[in-house]
Amino acid sequence: MIETERLYLRLMKESDTDDMLGIFNEPKLMKAFGFESFSREQMIRWVSRNLQYQEKYGYGLFSVILKSNGKLIGDCGLECTTFEGNECIEIGYDFSSVYWNQGYATEAASAVRDFSINDLNIDSRLLCSFIRKINAPSIRVSQKIGMKKTKEYSQNGIEYYLYQFPPP
Ligand SMILES: CC(C)(COP(=O)(O)OP(=O)(O)OC[C@H]1O[C@@H](n2cnc3c(N)ncnc32)[C@H](O)[C@@H]1OP(=O)(O)O)[C@@H](O)C(=O)NCCC(=O)NCCS
Repeated sequence: MIETERLYLRLMKESDTDDMLGIFNEPKLMKAFGFESFSREQMIRWVSRNLQYQEKYGYGLFSVILKSNGKLIGDCGLECTTFEGNECIEIGYDFSSVYWNQGYATEAASAVRDFSINDLNIDSRLLCSFIRKINAPSIRVSQKIGMKKTKEYSQNGIEYYLYQFPPP
């Protein structure tokens, strides 16, 4: 488990599905992904994919718990992927809109950055975030944890930025 000043980031559990569905069904959040809503089946598949991932790597997208009320308020963590044929590890985050703009995503993502570099010995140059150009809050979080825009690309007609840490 990762602990920050205001948050716990713990491994995700199957029993988090309902809380995650509550978060992913918020229209404000889904707008960031261009969907209307997530069905229960889609959420079950999403959580199950992350659980399999956690099983394989020992980490994944963590469930983020707010210390002050014990509620699950979002997810933040890592996912191995590839970009243009190169291995990379994405730092991802999604938070309930009830808790936006209070610095929680930045706090969680900073902790995940430190955990991946210091505890998992991941080369910081492998860490990345793929962010829609229109997603200003996510771009801001990336910048605040020290990432820089390194590429622009489009996929399925959607424009993205690639954010990465500068070489140490
Ligand atoms: C992206 C997200 C996780 C940010 O969560 P958060 O807890 O509000 O983030 P923080 O409070 O740490 O920081 C948000 C920053 O974005 C800024 N911001 C918020 N709305 C903004 C907007 N419309 N335009 C520009 N900046 C904006 C805030 O001012 C803040 O920056 P600051 O500290 O310099 O003032 C949240 O918006 C979210 O869950 N969005 C939907 C899911 C998503 O987009 N996930 C990422 C996919 S790449």
